[in-house]
Order: sequence, then structure tokens, then C-alpha cells
Amino acid sequence: MLDKLNHIGIAVPDLDAAAIIYRDVLGLEVIGEEIVEDQKVRTLMLKVGQVTIELLEPTAPDSPISSFLEKRGGGIHHLAYDVMDLEAELARMKKAGLRLIDETPRIGAGGHRIAFIHPKSTGGVLTELIESES
Ligand code: CO
Repeated sequence: MLDKLNHIGIAVPDLDAAAIIYRDVLGLEVIGEEIVEDQKVRTLMLKVGQVTIELLEPTAPDSPISSFLEKRGGGIHHLAYDVMDLEAELARMKKAGLRLIDETPRIGAGGHRIAFIHPKSTGGVLTELIESES
């Protein structure tokens, strides 16, 4: 089962321009910045209350974020949830008929084990599962 919402991912064409809005105008607190080579993205994590927002900018034309920006021009890209046992959750969800993008975990931001569920299975929203350290 899902534990809690970890973050909301938002695709942006220009991370520095988006940072000015989110950090300086909206006043969200920056809590991290990272390049995730595996997903070809540059990320900025910001916090507002209990919620973390992850801004995502592509670092290559073949980044998944590049194709999202081409199709949608930016916007909410995914919701990420914490889970205790990622392999067990993936097996359970597959058995329930959900379409998995990652059948096995891969390494995401912060070195965490992550996996994505196809948006076709989750109401049109790409879903990321993150194994929480316990
Ligand atoms: Co994410």
C-alpha cells in the first residue's frame, strides 16, 4: 500500500526561470537540487508545508521530460508516493493488472530505489513509487 505522498513532479522547459517563480515569488523553500543522469533531468526540490514540489527540466532531447514538454508544454508530470517494500508493491500491482513502466526498481533522485506506473493505469497521472528507508 502507498504510505504517503513524497512529492509532486512538475515539468518545466526552463528550470532557472521556474525557480525564480517558485522560490522568489511564491516563496517555496529550496531543499535540494540534483541532476538525475538515468532520467536525463535536472531537478529542483522545493518545500511548502508538508508537501514537496519537484521541478524537472530535461538535460537531453531524448529525456522523458522533453517528450512530455513537446506534447503538453509543461505541467504536472507525476505524483510520487513512498512505499515500504518496492518489489512487493510492484508484484502486487502487476498482479492487480496495473501497467508498470518499471518491472524492477531503478535508482532515482537521492539514490532512492524507484519505479514508475503507467498513467493509463492511474487515471492519466504518471505515478512514481519510492522505497522509503526504514
Ligand atoms: Co519524482
